[in-house]
Amino acid sequence: MIHKKVTLVSSPLLVALLWQFRDEPLAACTCISGLAGLATWCVVPGAVSIFKRAGLSGADLAKPNQPVLAESMGVVAAMIYLVATFLFIPAQFRKWWSTQEQTELDMTLNSFVFPYDRLGEYLSALLSLQSMVFLGFADDVLDLRWRFKLILPTIASVPILIVYYIGYGVTHVVVPVFMRSWLDAHIVDLGMLYYVYIGMMAVFCTNAINILAGINGVEVGQSIVIALSIIAKDIAYIISGNPDGEYYHLFTLYLLLPFVAVSCALYYWNVYPARVFVGDTYCYFSGMTFAVCGILGHFSKTLMLLFIPQIFNFVYSAPQIFGLVPCPRHRLPKMVVGSPLSRKTVARLQQEIDAENSGAASDASSDGGSATGDASNPSILSDKISSDHHGTLFTLHKSISTAMTSFAKAKANKPKRSNSTLRRSRSQSLRASGSSPNAGIYMVASRTSLEGAKPLGLLIIKLYEHIGIADIERDDQGNIMTVNNLTLLNLVLVLCHRLTESQLNNRILLIQVLNSVLAFFIRYRLSHLFYF
Ligand code: UD1
Ligand code: MG
Repeated sequence: MIHKKVTLVSSPLLVALLWQFRDEPLAACTCISGLAGLATWCVVPGAVSIFKRAGLSGADLAKPNQPVLAESMGVVAAMIYLVATFLFIPAQFRKWWSTQEQTELDMTLNSFVFPYDRLGEYLSALLSLQSMVFLGFADDVLDLRWRFKLILPTIASVPILIVYYIGYGVTHVVVPVFMRSWLDAHIVDLGMLYYVYIGMMAVFCTNAINILAGINGVEVGQSIVIALSIIAKDIAYIISGNPDGEYYHLFTLYLLLPFVAVSCALYYWNVYPARVFVGDTYCYFSGMTFAVCGILGHFSKTLMLLFIPQIFNFVYSAPQIFGLVPCPRHRLPKMVVGSPLSRKTVARLQQEIDAENSGAASDASSDGGSATGDASNPSILSDKISSDHHGTLFTLHKSISTAMTSFAKAKANKPKRSNSTLRRSRSQSLRASGSSPNAGIYMVASRTSLEGAKPLGLLIIKLYEHIGIADIERDDQGNIMTVNNLTLLNLVLVLCHRLTESQLNNRILLIQVLNSVLAFFIRYRLSHLFYF
């Protein structure tokens, strides 16, 4: 087992490095994070049977045989994270007490007074995170109602809100340039509203990750990308050598380095084909980690920019979440067993076939031989493709089928290959295209019936269709019947037609990475247009 071997070799090394750098909090934090990551990597597979025995399991709905996997494995990662952050407390504050011992005479100087405020901030962050992990686990075990999912993060964010209030109490916001003439002010004090805003941010972050979920790896993957983006921002700031606000960047790093470490280890077990599920515990834990960093690290606006895909997913989902359109218990994409031909491949094949066909047309017309083999059998391909209810693709397929029949006729004179040669060439081409032998299993957008949808819901769905972000199915009379479930995952499938589960996960992560680039562009290149 690779994880055990790597852990055996690298953990003594990390412990030695930790001892060496015990007076350097950032280096110590990196070593502790590495150890936490290794621990998660090793503990998760060991915990599978324990969780299953306790009834914490769920069916992997996007697989043909729907295997039952251990659920809520996020709690293992979160617990190891909390242990790592607790153990980091002495390393973080060591330099103050060792300095105090050495320079008793300097005790009166402010610079040597123990930073209780920083310790308070760090502890309140851990308290909020711990509460959220506990509440997330309760949700996994008890399957709480949605109203509790909104209330619980608000309660868990109280410790950080109090620390924020006592520590800074800054509730002023700089008014964007274009609003200054309306408000006749440069700065506005939001007072209590500011606390409502940051409290809502905690609720949003925790639930936003949870509703952009449902395929292997996506909850953890998006969290890793967001966390790495924030880490990159903090490191860039620290390297720039600007001492102003360096503490806040370090504070964020101390929370995010162990988070990334445990998340990467969890991702290893949760990515396609998943061996475990992370559960709501991980989604809440992850969302709260970002909220805590954004609030106490003073970068809530940048954090919201990094959450644009989640914000889009929430706004797009709103008609279902707020009951304007029926919302099934699960909105994750639907698994289909189908042709490995994607819409793009079909279009490319059509071009190739047309080109070859035009050359072979004269031969074919004089040839009375029958078409043989799967690829040349229009009815088989037709069954596979029409199962998607995609009218355009079906029409395209019909024309391809006709072309393929003539193409097969033209090829009929060529010597036939044996079955084993065919199998070999298929697996070679699969390897060449990077697909697995399970490449016939795809995800398509899942749909929901619009029976019982409210008039406002139907209006929004039509608007979505108008701007090309919804796939509506109509009956023969043109009445609206169904729509794709309103999630970003399904929307990507509406636009890309069909993808394997791992391709879909990779697309979502790519969107998240591109969004981070966009977020930093807005933050560091465009913000001066709004605030100068
Ligand atoms: C949220 C979504 C729901 C989505 C679900 C998937 C909303 C309002 N709710 O609900 O639409 O279906 O997350 O997590 O958007 N599962 C898989 N494969 C995966 C991950 C999960 O099949 O890769 C299934 C498993 O059966 C697992 C279950 O989803 O047991 C977990 O669902 P849960 O987290 O309880 O759903 P919610 O968070 O309530
Ligand atoms: Mg969930």
